[in-house]
Amino acid sequence: MIDALYQFLARLGFKEPIHPPITHMPIGLVVGALVFFLVAIIFKKKNLIMTARHVSILALLFAIPTILFGVFDWVHFYHAAMIGPIKIKMILATLVLLLLGTGIIVGSEVKVHSVTLAVIYALAFVCVIGLGYLGAGLIYGRGVEAPTPSSSQPVSAAESSGKAVFAANCRSCHPGGGNTIEPKLPLKASKKLADKAGFVAFIRSPKMPDGSAGAMPPFDADTVSDAQASDLFAFVTASSPNWE
Ligand code: HEC
Repeated sequence: MIDALYQFLARLGFKEPIHPPITHMPIGLVVGALVFFLVAIIFKKKNLIMTARHVSILALLFAIPTILFGVFDWVHFYHAAMIGPIKIKMILATLVLLLLGTGIIVGSEVKVHSVTLAVIYALAFVCVIGLGYLGAGLIYGRGVEAPTPSSSQPVSAAESSGKAVFAANCRSCHPGGGNTIEPKLPLKASKKLADKAGFVAFIRSPKMPDGSAGAMPPFDADTVSDAQASDLFAFVTASSPNWE
């Protein structure tokens, strides 16, 4: 069902994740709730307490589709891999929902100086900062150089089909041949690219160099067929020198 949604969007020409465009709404509204509340208290503008409350209700309303789209992106682009930043984002997103919900209940009694409300709005603010920080890390990498667009134009049919397989399955974690999850294990210049059989065996059952289970999700033949894996290998090996 989720894949059908992305296929529909791709047909409209939109192939990007759907969480980032909407995520600014709840983030901005959580910041707004805190700012209005602080201004209300500092400048004794009682009516702005209500403004803060209304803004926080809007934040909660927008948080729900934002989280849903985030889960969709995670399933689609990260193959639901349980990676560290995602786990923390899940905890923070749950906290934001709980804080906003509690704030709405607590704020229904009209009391001007509510320390509780100030703490709730401030904690929600800290959580959204954390969510934004981790989200940017997932897209741009933590400590990895920004993804450089590959200068190599695909030449063969295999490479251009491989490029599409890469974009759909690998690019989210390996932009520019890097590795946003395990920066020390980039795709480019990996020993796993030495031969096609070894490469295909690796993506069917990925492991850390020491043989333990890592964070990369396995790609079975239903997700990436043998023919697609072969094209993917052609694309990755052709691009690898340009990713240096
Ligand atoms: C959810 C993130 C994620 C996705 C999607 C992903 N990988 Fe990985 N990849 C990793 C991580 C993390 C590692 C480090 C080893 C591990 O954790 O299993 C890795 C390691 C690798 C390595 C070995 C690097 C080395 O030298 O040890 C190769 C090759 C590789 N990935 C290729 C791919 C290809 C090809 C795809 C797409 C079919 C893909 N990866 C999709 C996260 C991902």
